[in-house]
Amino acid sequence: MSVHTKPADLLKHRAHIAMCPPHFFEVSYSINPFMEPTRWEQDPLAYQTEATHQWNQLADVLARLGVKVELLQPHPGVPDLVFTANAAIVLNKKVLMARFKHPERQAEEPFFKAFFQMLKTRGLIEEIADLPPSIHQEGAGDCVWDPARQMFWAGYGPRSDMGAASFVSEFFGKKVVPLKLQTAQFYHLDVSMAPLTGGELVYFPGAFSAASVAQIREHVAEQDLIEASLEDASQLCVNAVNIEKDIVMAPCSDRLRGQLEDRGYCVHQVPLGEFWKSGGAAFCLTLRLDRFSSDFSHQDSSKAKLQVVQTV
Ligand code: ARG
Repeated sequence: MSVHTKPADLLKHRAHIAMCPPHFFEVSYSINPFMEPTRWEQDPLAYQTEATHQWNQLADVLARLGVKVELLQPHPGVPDLVFTANAAIVLNKKVLMARFKHPERQAEEPFFKAFFQMLKTRGLIEEIADLPPSIHQEGAGDCVWDPARQMFWAGYGPRSDMGAASFVSEFFGKKVVPLKLQTAQFYHLDVSMAPLTGGELVYFPGAFSAASVAQIREHVAEQDLIEASLEDASQLCVNAVNIEKDIVMAPCSDRLRGQLEDRGYCVHQVPLGEFWKSGGAAFCLTLRLDRFSSDFSHQDSSKAKLQVVQTV
């Protein structure tokens, strides 16, 4: 009997991702150095129209790659709701809700919660949990699953607390390596690190403290480290979506693209400049709902349900 790592209805898709259409996307406040509300005010209609066009292109590329997209309903007054990566950490049908640092984004929490509750009623999620009120943690944006190493990398400093790592580890039963983000510009882990399916790690060392760079080097062999330049990192190219051998990202340098292609990856570039104005790009605009660790057996959880049904 084969053990599937994905629910049966998702086996025909290569990935299952949550996205939120940018109907109400704008830059109306500033909580990171990319965000300049006065610049956005100069031509909000044009920027909004372009953002919608870029988001549609990203969704089209993902659909062409065989991704099933689950849409979160947009709401006015919470422009950063488009950055679904920050909603929660998701693994093995378990969801650990984000707790945002800034009040502007705390307003998104009920919408994300309602979304996961809806997914739970559909059987796509089995458990939803909250962090203690005193702990900040901004979802997959600051806690990235490394499929090759079967562990999480957790960023802390600008947004998430270092203390979140032990809760994540306990909740999911997985190793978590905390990494200190030392700049204001690279404020979330996912803008400076992308673990790839083949075990390579794209990263921008300048975002991390020296001790955290040493931690990264301890876990990743030299030949698997792909160092992004300051230019590529600043363009938010490291903020990439990797599905098997496909990588979807904002336009990057020929050098970075070449390094990825040399390792057998196919790079799909999507202009995401309007979201860059908010400090986000491809990975931020998506959240994988189908992350499963290799020791997770979906058959076990469906068998358990079957037994319940039989005893009724
Ligand atoms: N304006 C958003 C913020 O500052 C951008 C979030 C980008 N998301 C991410 N996962 N890096 O929170």
